Amino acid sequence: MKILVTGGAGFIGSNFVHYMLNEHPEDEIVNLDLLTYAGDLESLEDVENLPNYRFVRGDIADRAFIFELFERERFDVVINFAAESHVDRSITGPAIFVQTNVLGTTTLLDACNKYGIKRYHQVSTDEVYGDLPLDRPDLFFTENTPIHTSSPYSSSKASADLFVMAYHRTYGLPVTISRCSNNYGPYQFPEKLIPLMIAKALNDEKLPVYGEGLNVRDWLEVRDHCMAIDLIVRNGRVGEVYNVGGHNERTNMQVVKTILNALGKPESLIAHVEDRKGHDRRYAIDPKKLETELGWKPKYVFETGIQDTIRWYLDNRTWWEHILSGEYLKGR
Ligand SMILES: NC(=O)c1ccc[n+]([C@@H]2O[C@H](COP(=O)([O-])OP(=O)(O)OC[C@H]3O[C@@H](n4cnc5c(N)ncnc54)[C@H](O)[C@@H]3O)[C@@H](O)[C@H]2O)c1
Repeated sequence: MKILVTGGAGFIGSNFVHYMLNEHPEDEIVNLDLLTYAGDLESLEDVENLPNYRFVRGDIADRAFIFELFERERFDVVINFAAESHVDRSITGPAIFVQTNVLGTTTLLDACNKYGIKRYHQVSTDEVYGDLPLDRPDLFFTENTPIHTSSPYSSSKASADLFVMAYHRTYGLPVTISRCSNNYGPYQFPEKLIPLMIAKALNDEKLPVYGEGLNVRDWLEVRDHCMAIDLIVRNGRVGEVYNVGGHNERTNMQVVKTILNALGKPESLIAHVEDRKGHDRRYAIDPKKLETELGWKPKYVFETGIQDTIRWYLDNRTWWEHILSGEYLKGR
């Protein structure tokens, strides 16, 4: 199969490219990425010369470019990871989220419609379901939970999901959607909670924690997410949504303290800062559909997964230090 992976220079996309090249060396991967501030080709240095992998720089919202690419390449499968992904940035500047996440997605869908594909897969988020109360641990997001977004980020992702489903219903496009919880693992940009806290702790800087740090996230190891997407694309039913989550709920404070303990740093480094506007309280996924229909079983549990992740950031200091210093932007 010839697979277009968009956003493959980002956190989850680069892990997915690695996963696919390992698991399915018979497939051909074309990685299309605009290389915004969040894209880093250093994450893919070890695969860049493989004969079945290619990088193309471009914007998923650039219609002429996308149509020309599809005309030339004739993809079998399109998997869309490309997005503006940081909630805090969406609060200070929502417009680019509409441009990339909504317009970019519909541009890809139009190209799929025109040139024909076997499957279009949209990588979405559990944030489209809004949040759950902290005092109801019995509640989980299912695929039938109503869309009820909080931030400009989640609103743009929910809009994209609605367009994906509309293209299936209206034009018969063979689509699937996955909605996952918070990912952690290698190659995550150090503006997100776990790598940010690791980098700050290693530099003996204050660790900024929103409010009391009691917001709960359901942590998913990125490689378990990659496995889920691969299963959905190959065996998932067209027109269906699949939730992906690992039943690994932790408060932000628990995560931060785990990192400090692992690095032998004092909890006095924690600094409580003003809460994020509209901050979602709790996310928790019910992944039953993915488990029963497609046999997905996560390989990682948070206790050991987080320790492996911390070790990865210790062993790959140059990777994230290049980002923090801006070195990774040189030559763009
Ligand atoms: N990280 C998470 O925990 C998480 C959780 C749920 C869902 N998701 C979703 O998964 C996907 C990937 O997330 P991530 O954390 O890897 O994001 P990321 O920010 O690390 O990477 C996004 C990538 O998309 C690229 N990109 C941005 N705009 C583009 C455009 N217009 N054209 C082409 N490429 C563009 C960037 O250069 C970057 O490489 C996103 O769709 C996100 O909404 C992420």
